[in-house]
Amino acid sequence: MSEHRLDQLRPLARTVVVVDAGRVETHDASVWEAPRIEVAKHSSTADRAEAWSLHEVTAGFAGCPVVGSVNLSGDGGEVIALSGPNGGGKTTLLRTIAGMLRPLSGKVERRPGRIAYLPQNPGALLHRPTVRSEVELTLQRARDAEPADAILQALGLLEVAGRYPRDLSSGERQRAALAAVLAGKPSLVLLDEPTRGMDAGARAALVSLVARLRDAGAAVILATHDVALIGSLADQVVQVCGGRAVA
Ligand SMILES: Nc1ncnc2c1ncn2[C@@H]1O[C@H](COP(=O)(O)OP(=O)(O)O)[C@@H](O)[C@H]1O
Ligand SMILES: [Mg+2]
Repeated sequence: MSEHRLDQLRPLARTVVVVDAGRVETHDASVWEAPRIEVAKHSSTADRAEAWSLHEVTAGFAGCPVVGSVNLSGDGGEVIALSGPNGGGKTTLLRTIAGMLRPLSGKVERRPGRIAYLPQNPGALLHRPTVRSEVELTLQRARDAEPADAILQALGLLEVAGRYPRDLSSGERQRAALAAVLAGKPSLVLLDEPTRGMDAGARAALVSLVARLRDAGAAVILATHDVALIGSLADQVVQVCGGRAVA
């Protein structure tokens, strides 16, 4: 199996083969140490005013509810994780918070400011000829003078910055999409399964980038069942399943 998330696979494996920068190393699985994931502690007391909220929201499609009577809110400087099984409604809830899906009933409120939304399929986002121009487009639209290379470097993308996004590996494409949405100073950060296909180094880069946006006052919502990511970043976990969302 070719995989990054080894917590549950490792007890079944005899051998771990690490393939890194052109080198292949074989380790005995019983003694191999997986890279550790650090907790991104809060480094400032950003303004903790409410940034978004759902009041008695029912969300779904063509009149059929997926989740009902949801009351949730989040502050600037706070990270909330939406967790739960496939098909539970995480993406539906995230799109409702983003304003991309109208609730069937109830009220959605957001403070003004830019929304950074990473869809579950990042390919849907990438249309420009190079990775760098994807980031530049976001910064131009936000009238942000930050150089594109800052976030490309933070996400380890400088080497592929001149390449066509659709020709990248899936992990690189995921990072390219993250760079394209997270560049500049978004006020609300909504990421759907952000660590999909990402290796340990890329995950660490994502965690520190999200922690930096959080500490700058962004409200963050992650739809994920990645327990390590939740452990690193989330202040609150909301279980979304069986039509309900319980914090
Ligand atoms: N565009 C859509 N039209 C109709 N049903 C949908 C649509 N998108 C998702 N659903 C349904 O909504 C439910 C929740 O899906 P989703 O929010 O994607 O869950 P999760 O992100 O937790 O895996 C599923 O039963 C799914 O089939
Ligand atoms: Mg989903």
